[in-house]
Amino acid sequence: MKKEIRKIGIAGAGTMGSGIATVAALAGLEVQLYDIRSEALDHAAATVLKNLSGAVKRGKISEEAKDQAFHRIAFTGEFSKLTGELMIEAILEKFELKKELFQKLAAQNSPDCILSSNTSSIPITRIAAVTPHPERVVGLHFFNPPHIMKLVEVISAPQTDPKVADRVKALAERMGKRAVHVKDAPGFIVNRVARPYYLEALKMLEEGIANTAAIDRLMTASGFKMGPFRLMDLIGIDSNHYTSCSMYESFFYEARFRPSRIQQQMTEAGKHGRKSGEGFYKYD
Ligand SMILES: NC(=O)c1ccc[n+]([C@@H]2O[C@H](COP(=O)([O-])OP(=O)(O)OC[C@H]3O[C@@H](n4cnc5c(N)ncnc54)[C@H](O)[C@@H]3O)[C@@H](O)[C@H]2O)c1
Repeated sequence: MKKEIRKIGIAGAGTMGSGIATVAALAGLEVQLYDIRSEALDHAAATVLKNLSGAVKRGKISEEAKDQAFHRIAFTGEFSKLTGELMIEAILEKFELKKELFQKLAAQNSPDCILSSNTSSIPITRIAAVTPHPERVVGLHFFNPPHIMKLVEVISAPQTDPKVADRVKALAERMGKRAVHVKDAPGFIVNRVARPYYLEALKMLEEGIANTAAIDRLMTASGFKMGPFRLMDLIGIDSNHYTSCSMYESFFYEARFRPSRIQQQMTEAGKHGRKSGEGFYKYD
């Protein structure tokens, strides 16, 4: 019988890491939230507090539950604190960085610690292949914002032990999520279907067919919750661009997945959307 998952570590305290920490703490887990940048940790603490206060305002939790959840999270810059039954990686969408992180996490945790990735597109198979005890590597893909969106994809590589996938699925359900088993494939399910939503909108912008506000207005008028440009700003222009690059490679450079130069330039210019104050729109 494996130990119940009580203590987890999250690497990367950005858009996703801070939201995942919120839901994990609300589910009663003890969370170490780690980042290499102290500004990211300060920002994450403010974001978690804002998420929890929002839940109080919506009548979802009490003031007391908010304080308890906040105190279950330790915001840390010390890598050695990342020990426990489950690690969730939510750092930049770059394979080399993830590879190094998984190897370091494997070195300081027992072989039955589950090592999961919140990657949007990097093959779990590839991450597992470079990690000791690859059978405990699994994808745990939350959606943005993680404390609101119900869906979680649980991604199994060929190396993943089915019991590991079942354990993280059960944990996601304890967090109040709708968790679904998915096979490892480029972009898994949701990102594969959603990619053209971003890329076609960017192509239309490049071709001068309509501006961002018009495209967003039309898409929301046709029933989508958010237009593609507002959504890319929420996701993070850089995260969305790196995901496009990784999917393009995984699909052997099929033209329909070609990344956008507009997005590449915005990524390089630091216009990363809401998190940087400016993307396709400006934010306070
Ligand atoms: N943004 C989304 O909508 C979304 C949705 C689902 C999945 N994802 C995936 O989640 C992951 C994180 O994306 P994000 O949008 O939160 O990115 P982000 O840029 O908001 O945050 C990433 C954080 O990781 C930190 N970081 C970078 N290298 C690190 C390292 N070696 N160790 C520890 N911290 C490190 C950065 O300082 C930053 O704070 C990516 O793999 C992305 O594809 C993103």
